[in-house]
Amino acid sequence: MDKLVIKGGKRLTGTVTASGSKNSSLPVIAATLLSSEGCCTLHRIPDLQDIRTFTQLINHLGAETSFSGNTLTVATGKIESVLAPYELVKKMRASIYVLGPLLARFGEARVSLPGGCAFGPRPIDLHLMAMEKLGAEISIETGFITAKAPGGKLKGAHIDFPISSVGATGNAMMAAVLAEGTTTLTNAAAEPEIVTLCRFLSAMGANITGTGSTELVIEGVESLAAVEFTNVFDRIEAGTLLAAAAITGGEITIEGVEADQLKSVLKKFVHAGCNVSHTEDSITLISPDKLAATDVTAKPYPSFPTDMQAQWTALMTQAEGTSRITDKVYHERFNHIPELNRLGAHIEIRKNQAVVHGTRKLSGTKVMSTDLRASACLVLAGLVAEGVTEVLRVYHLDRGYEKIETKLAALGADITREQYKEFS
Ligand code: EPZ
Repeated sequence: MDKLVIKGGKRLTGTVTASGSKNSSLPVIAATLLSSEGCCTLHRIPDLQDIRTFTQLINHLGAETSFSGNTLTVATGKIESVLAPYELVKKMRASIYVLGPLLARFGEARVSLPGGCAFGPRPIDLHLMAMEKLGAEISIETGFITAKAPGGKLKGAHIDFPISSVGATGNAMMAAVLAEGTTTLTNAAAEPEIVTLCRFLSAMGANITGTGSTELVIEGVESLAAVEFTNVFDRIEAGTLLAAAAITGGEITIEGVEADQLKSVLKKFVHAGCNVSHTEDSITLISPDKLAATDVTAKPYPSFPTDMQAQWTALMTQAEGTSRITDKVYHERFNHIPELNRLGAHIEIRKNQAVVHGTRKLSGTKVMSTDLRASACLVLAGLVAEGVTEVLRVYHLDRGYEKIETKLAALGADITREQYKEFS
């Protein structure tokens, strides 16, 4: 198993290029299942465990893929199965994204229920509600969702989401693009990852209006073509690297990411005292001598993203004053707090809020990753902690960050990846 060994205290400076976005890659790869001939060529796909798991899943269905140099090609002319097995879905919840495209193209799908997650329940009722609105008959037995479209074709409908859901919005879009008639999605997620999916589906020939808003209108079409497409950069990776600069009192420029996609996060960096500037495809952050305590509330886009909540918590351990960090998307996404406190932070959890008492000197020790963004948070804390911090079980980190230690080392961090054995 791998760990990251970090010697804290190094100030990060320099320029780094973000990788392709993980959370837009996954629905885009799922959407390739909608084309019945030809080959999709997807550029700027990050080389991550989650991408490899998803590629394994569509290979299992019959797709032919090849992946090199961040370009993934996918031919889905020979899909022979509509079954997404437990072993793969359990590894990655986003496997549920095959439900919509399989139903749309083949009129049926059998997908294992995803099961739990490290930071609390992650239901899929909104995915199933959307499919039923489009006419699918859904049954759940022996741990599997079985979905069938009567007559093999979904029918356009009005789908109103009671809460904003990125995954359910993506699945509904991928089901609706080949349905008969018009589908309207209201209170749809408007995250940049959904915008990217809209752009990809439109490039394939889908008829979607309202991209970027919470109301999407989709006119079903007969078929969709395989196309070449370039993915967006990863805004959460960018936000994490900016936090790495801010926590070490550094100054970095990140190339690739559009500042617009991180507006709410950049605003908070400024409030915390950082100097933030940007061009159309780069962001520069210069840290202040002292960070100011800054409250954040994680909510659906365009608010502060829940995927940056843990990273912000690490940063606020170094700020003057007390910060309140509330997560209104995942109320239990606080597994990183006990580990931060073991590093010397003083953070209390009150329901879905972390109260961070700042300007705490952190001292390096061994800490355990529990999920993707929690592990990123612990790496950030290790960058500023005195002495050596060992972040264990970095397979969590590898799910969503491409070569993070290489990027951080290039910016001046003293960080290496080492193997270790856990007590059995
Ligand atoms: C996506 O997950 C992201 N994952 C998550 O990023 C991200 O945290 C989340 O969106 C919120 O932005 C991918 O894109 C692969 P949701 P998703 O459906 O789609 C509730 C990371 O770190 N809900 O927008 O699963 C749900 O419990 C990962 O990269 C239902 O109640 O999230 C949550 O409270 C972690 N029923 C809220 O909606 C449903 O059927 C938002 O979840 C679906 C969701």
